[in-house]
Amino acid sequence: MIGHMPSAYILGIESSCDETAASVVRSGEEMISNVVASQIALHQPYGGVVPELASREHLRAIVPVVKQALAEAGKTFETIDAIAVTQGPGLTGALLVGISYAKALAFALDKPIIAVNHLEGHIHAVLLEERQKGNHELRFPVLALVVSGGHTHLYLARQSADTWAYENIGHTRDDAAGEAFDKVAKLLGLGYPGGPVIDRLSKYGNARAVKFPPSQIKNPDRRTPSKELAFVAKSATDGGTTQVENGRPRFDFSYSGIKTAVLRYVETHDMPGPIDSRRRALATIAKPKLEDYVANCDKQTLDLIASFQRALVGDLVAKTLAAAREYDVATLFVTGGVAANAELRETFEGDAAEQGLAVFFPSRPLSTDNAAMIAAAAYPKFVARQFAPMDFSAEAGMVLR
Ligand code: KG4
Ligand code: ZN
Repeated sequence: MIGHMPSAYILGIESSCDETAASVVRSGEEMISNVVASQIALHQPYGGVVPELASREHLRAIVPVVKQALAEAGKTFETIDAIAVTQGPGLTGALLVGISYAKALAFALDKPIIAVNHLEGHIHAVLLEERQKGNHELRFPVLALVVSGGHTHLYLARQSADTWAYENIGHTRDDAAGEAFDKVAKLLGLGYPGGPVIDRLSKYGNARAVKFPPSQIKNPDRRTPSKELAFVAKSATDGGTTQVENGRPRFDFSYSGIKTAVLRYVETHDMPGPIDSRRRALATIAKPKLEDYVANCDKQTLDLIASFQRALVGDLVAKTLAAAREYDVATLFVTGGVAANAELRETFEGDAAEQGLAVFFPSRPLSTDNAAMIAAAAYPKFVARQFAPMDFSAEAGMVLR
């Protein structure tokens, strides 16, 4: 950040979903500690996050996780300047654990508290790491694709003085991209979460084997057409038509169709039997390794996995780059859990370069949920003294503006 800004050590706390996380970040530019306690093992038997279990586990983990983050940073409660916590979006019960603890700390220590939107956090994960590498130059506007288990959003991000503002120009109309990865993996007997397994297995299959026509991943508009809605013809490279809302072109996503297409393929290719065997075989292994997954997948399954990932990644990249052209952006951020995907990174890097667009990702540890991104996003608010009142609460469906 710019030289005249005050230096501040912010303790970030994140508990919106299935990771309890705490981190100390200096002035939005130096991550000093980053502790993440994942609940994956707890939720694995259920094939997804169980909200009640998540809240209880956050309660158990929050105090040791925060203490560890302070200890690793060589800090104490007294020597931090502010406490930042995720307000939403996320699971209400899970969010409340982080918020209640953060409020108690702020009250007892007489330190300011900063409420952060989780999605803004994902965007600031990229900014934090770029500053840490010494890159303080950013060309605006920035287009950010936030793509995770719960979200698939496109934001135009702008900074004026200390304030960041965001405009949503696209979102998923049904499933998030990570949700599609998780549901397809579950459907194929590969367990939870699906993204990392599909990512690694897709290298073993032929991505051209199964065709998922664009009609299966188009974005049907189920809302009633209003006066503000119109479709304008675009060049063929922009996918035919673009929806316009309030005079601003939109680039929406839809990933429930491709999940259904995978289900149809499974049903029409006699795959349920082998899937059941695979599910049972993998359940007997405490921590299955890549070799275990490969050994339990036939060629047909590997080809289906590779083809699914290719189709989904192709759609995410094509829509995002079309939005970048439409809004004439110079910089692209790709962040959130799915940004850890190797094929997504390679495709974005190749295609964005062709378009003369600089693309930035967080490192893999900062792609998925963490508290460093919350502490980093809080810094401009600290400088602007945008502190939260003590009576703020969790906002499960919080929007980013
Ligand atoms: O950001 P995150 O940790 O939590 C949410 O805010 O949702 O993202 C978790 C999501 C899960 O759906 C997971 O399957 C997906 O990110 N994911 C991946 C990969 N690693 C995690 N998806 C594709 N490829 C990966 N390597
Ligand atoms: Zn997230």
